[in-house]
Amino acid sequence: MSSAITVKLTDNPKMKPTDEGKLGFGRVFTDHMFVCEWNKGEGWHDAKIVPFADLSIHPASTVLHYGAEIFEGLKAYRWADGSVKLFRPTENVRRMNRSAERMGLPQIPEELFLEALLKLVGIDADWVPHGEGTSLYIRPFMIGDDEHLGVHGVSHARFYIILSPSGSYYKGGLAPVRIMIEDHDVRAVRGGTGEAKCGGNYGASVRAGEKAEEKGFDQVLWLDGVEQKYIEEVGSMNIMFKIDGKVVTPALTGAILPGITRKSIIEFLKSKGAAVEERRISVDELAKALEDGKLEEAWGCGTAAVVSPVGVLKYKDKEYVISGGRIGETTQMLYDELTGLQWGKKPDPFGWVVNVK
Ligand code: PLP
Ligand code: COI
Repeated sequence: MSSAITVKLTDNPKMKPTDEGKLGFGRVFTDHMFVCEWNKGEGWHDAKIVPFADLSIHPASTVLHYGAEIFEGLKAYRWADGSVKLFRPTENVRRMNRSAERMGLPQIPEELFLEALLKLVGIDADWVPHGEGTSLYIRPFMIGDDEHLGVHGVSHARFYIILSPSGSYYKGGLAPVRIMIEDHDVRAVRGGTGEAKCGGNYGASVRAGEKAEEKGFDQVLWLDGVEQKYIEEVGSMNIMFKIDGKVVTPALTGAILPGITRKSIIEFLKSKGAAVEERRISVDELAKALEDGKLEEAWGCGTAAVVSPVGVLKYKDKEYVISGGRIGETTQMLYDELTGLQWGKKPDPFGWVVNVK
């Protein structure tokens, strides 16, 4: 398609939130959104930025019945000089296309996706919040939209980008989170859709998440879907441990999301000459490390969650406190380095930051 994105600005701009401390996550939306349509004959067409509005959808649409949906999550950051930046957006574009491939949805040309991101965030740049730790959360998503009930690959799809000024994902900000290891439900198996960022993975995780919340935990740590023996990832973040001085994280087996924050932390640590082991970590190894006092730190990492210290880990009937329930040294260092780079307080030797305006 031609890369021309048409723009229709709103006649009724909304009030922006005045108290950025109360933003929460993903509850407030900006004035505009990006929309693009695809069908088998024409490919992608009608790319436009329009006023934020409800969608109209056929009741038989594929997405409503068979979960033809994929999404991404990235953020725009406001720097002290007023400029607005993205962090490694091409990584999200490529992951979205890998998710599309897995789910039988069409590929989006990288240039179109990037142009749409930059243009939309540029138009709604005044919505990027200023407060410490706040950002504009960007949610691209694609749905399959055939208007009949056969189970099949789609011949119509729609791609959207919406924007949400947000604060911290967890209510407690950087306070250590309480995580429960799930030993009944599984999230994904190899060959399934675990490494795709598709809505169905999250739908299937809700029951265990609710159960954990009722028991006073923030999120669930998933075990592998075959033996329920190996650590995989948390509900909305990858997981890392410091065991006996070494950073270890589950290897990408196909069942977990290849997180961009995970990748960035590994690349950062390696650039400093620190060893990072990407391998299988059994829950027994973890329990033993905890009992021997060798599990020094644990943290989750993700776009929404940033770097989140894990203060308590529960497995079956045992509750383990990590780092005395406080944020550990490496966790704090990684939080400072990553957020420093994203907010322009530290240099960016990797070229990860992209200017919007
Ligand atoms: N794992 C899951 C299940 C997620 O939802 C996310 C968030 O996107 C992550 C890991 C971390 O990925 P990223 O660092 O790309 O945000
Ligand atoms: C993100 O970190 O971008 C995510 O997508 C997590 C989300 C499911 C809230």
